[in-house]
Amino acid sequence: MVDNTQLPPAQELAISRDLMTLSRHVLQQVGGGSYDAQAQDLSALMGRIALAGKLISRHLSRSGLVEDALGSTGSVNVQGEEVKKMDQYANRIFIRALEQSGLVCRLASEEMEKPYYIPENCPVGRYTLLFDPIDGSSNIDVNLAVGSIFSVRQQEGNDETGEALDLLQDGRKQLAAGYILYGSGTVLVYTIGKGVHSFYLDPSLGEFILVQENIQVPSTGNTYSINEGNFCSWPESIRQYVMHLHRTPGYTSRYSGALVADMHRILMLGGVYLYPGTESHPDGKLRLLYETAPMAFLMEQAGGRASTGTQNVLDVIPKKLHQRTPLIIGSPDDVALVESFVGSGASAQEPVQVSELRR
Ligand code: F6P
Ligand code: MN
Repeated sequence: MVDNTQLPPAQELAISRDLMTLSRHVLQQVGGGSYDAQAQDLSALMGRIALAGKLISRHLSRSGLVEDALGSTGSVNVQGEEVKKMDQYANRIFIRALEQSGLVCRLASEEMEKPYYIPENCPVGRYTLLFDPIDGSSNIDVNLAVGSIFSVRQQEGNDETGEALDLLQDGRKQLAAGYILYGSGTVLVYTIGKGVHSFYLDPSLGEFILVQENIQVPSTGNTYSINEGNFCSWPESIRQYVMHLHRTPGYTSRYSGALVADMHRILMLGGVYLYPGTESHPDGKLRLLYETAPMAFLMEQAGGRASTGTQNVLDVIPKKLHQRTPLIIGSPDDVALVESFVGSGASAQEPVQVSELRR
C-alpha cells in the first residue's frame, strides 16, 4: 500500500550527479582536453548567454508584481509586429550581457532593424550573436511559456559596409545555437555541433546544471504543432497533410504559440512543428537567421530534421537579415511525411499513400 503521509526524500537530481555547469561542459565539448582560443571563447559566450537567460527568467517570474514589466510598448518592430515591454527588456539584457565581454563584434535580433555594433569604448570580439530575445511574445502577458533563441557565427571579413553581409550565408556556418525555455522551470538547450544538451536553472544556486546529454529526438511522434486557424490560407499540400492526420487515429495536436516551447516538447517526445507559408506570407512567419536556422542546427544534432518543404533549412542562403522561411521541424519520419505531401503536390482528389512512412 502506498504511504501518502510521507514525502519522498528530496530528489537532488542534478546535485547527486557531478554538478556539471554549463561553462565547464562547453569547455569539455570543444576542447576535448586541450582548450584552444575558440573553446575558451565559446565557453565564455555560452556563459554570457546563460547570464542573459537568468536575468530574463528572474524578470519574467516577477513580471506580474512589478511596474512596467508587462504590456505593449505601443510601437511595432521591423517585422510590423507589436513590441512588448518584455521584448524590449530582453533585447537590452542580451546587449548588456555581451557588449562588455570582448567576445562579439555585433548583435542582431528580431527587435533591431540593423545589427548593433559594439561601441568604440567597448572591447570588440570575433563573433556575431543572432537572437530572438523573447520568442512567443503573445504568451507573456498571460503567464505562459516563452523562450529566447540564439545563434553564434564567426565574423568573416571586416564588414566594411556595416551591413553584416557575411551573415548572409547558410546555417552550416553556425558555431553554436540553442534556446532558453522559460516554462515551469527554465531550461537551456544548446549545441556546438557535438550533440544537444540540456541544463536546468537552479534558481537557488543561480547556475544552469546539466540534466541531459546527447538528446536524441524519437524517429516519430504522435504530436503535431501548427496554427490551424490558418488552415484556409495554407498551400493545398499542407491542408492535405493535416487532413490526413485528422483521419489517422493516434495523432494529437499541441500548439503553444511559442516555437521554443513546441520545439522542446518535440525534441523530448517526438512529433513535428510546422509554420508553412500562407497566402499573405508565402515564406511563413519565422525568421531564418535567429529562429529557423538555429532550431534546424539543434534538431539535426539531435537526429531530427528541419525543412522548408523543398529544402533543408540549413542550406537556405538568406538575401537579407530578417528573411523568413517556412519551417517543418522535428522527428525525421514525420518531417519526411510532410515533405511527401509537399513533393507530391497533393490535391484534394489524390491523397498520398503514406502507409510505408507511418508506422
Ligand atoms: O516568433 C514567432 C512566433 O511567436 C513563434 O514563437 C510561434 O510559434 C508563432 O510565432 C506563433 O504565430 P501565430 O500566432 O501566427 O501562430
Ligand atoms: Mn520568435
